[in-house]
Amino acid sequence: MKVALVGFGTVGKSVYDMLEKAEGMTPGKVLMLPEFFTDPTFQTTDYNDILNDPETEAVVECITNAKAGYEYARAALNAGKHYVSSSKAMVAVYGAELNRLAREKGVAFLFGAACGGSMPILMALSQSRQMDEVLSVSGILNGTTNYMLDAMQRKGCTYEAALKTAQELGYAEADPTADVSGADSLRKIMLACAVSYGVLPSEGLNREGIESLTAEDVNHFAARGLVCRLIAKGGRNEDGSVYACVEPVLFGKNAPESSVLDNNNLAKSVCRYNGSLVLIGQGAGGDPTASNVLRDLVNIRAAYRHYLPADCKEGTAMNDACLSRYYVRVDGQDAGLFQAEEAEQDGSVCRIVTAAMPVKKMHQLAADIRANGRKVFFAAMAE
Ligand code: HSE
Repeated sequence: MKVALVGFGTVGKSVYDMLEKAEGMTPGKVLMLPEFFTDPTFQTTDYNDILNDPETEAVVECITNAKAGYEYARAALNAGKHYVSSSKAMVAVYGAELNRLAREKGVAFLFGAACGGSMPILMALSQSRQMDEVLSVSGILNGTTNYMLDAMQRKGCTYEAALKTAQELGYAEADPTADVSGADSLRKIMLACAVSYGVLPSEGLNREGIESLTAEDVNHFAARGLVCRLIAKGGRNEDGSVYACVEPVLFGKNAPESSVLDNNNLAKSVCRYNGSLVLIGQGAGGDPTASNVLRDLVNIRAAYRHYLPADCKEGTAMNDACLSRYYVRVDGQDAGLFQAEEAEQDGSVCRIVTAAMPVKKMHQLAADIRANGRKVFFAAMAE
């Protein structure tokens, strides 16, 4: 199978190298922006060279511009080529539409590397949806923030130093706000929900990143044997609706999540028949992500075509029924907003563990506190 590429950055280059060695595959042309074009033997600046090449069966896209990725996808699918994307930002917005187009054209649309880097979690969920029932999916789906949380707790790094190193190591997005705000994790759990339930939740989502976390918070957790991780969660409510959110979670030090170090990710699915399945692996980086792209191509060769079900559509996440106890650090004057099971005053700061409360309510209270110009950090307490 001849495979053309769109994008020749960290992931694209690794995909190209792997294509040269993979069984039954060969690299086609690589589409380059004119300013990066260097070698006419394998590069082109004209997408038509790829679209009009009858030998090119599949296009792999590894770029960050979602709108551009969508245009490349539409053109490739319309030209009857299989399309594999590693762009979570693109699939989280256009996935449902591209799934319909790919099915109409009888070609594949796969995006395994867009969720979990190296881990074949979307494939596992896609298969489970067809013969089991996915009850929930959750995990550490962002390598940058995991690296930062781990470096702050184990090495005593400041937030700023940990972020700088994560950027230098190539884990972070071009704009790391997507990582630290939880937006990147949220896109990944949106994809996991779309694959598991046929609902791509685009509204009603709750997202809290690690931007409000301080070194004092981390020291406080460590003294209590707790480890903070940024967790994406999705699942089905009892009424059949879907919930999806991202928030920091505090785990006991013996929990599997606490032993996920550096830039690693963890993805956990819970299915009715299969039970609990946990994958741990590299969540970012060229070779690990490229390996998941190649896995999609292997799947295409084995006639696997779609991760999303035929009727996949955009929907609204219903997070009202999803409850957690929360650790909350607030100014003393905001402490009364919470029903506290435990409370500890430290100067003007109050650290509370709340009674179980809806995810949606916790996120709304934090937004209200910030709208009043005051600070808050919160993390769910793992069950
Ligand atoms: N910035 C992302 C992360 C890259 O840190 O997980 C992989 O999606």
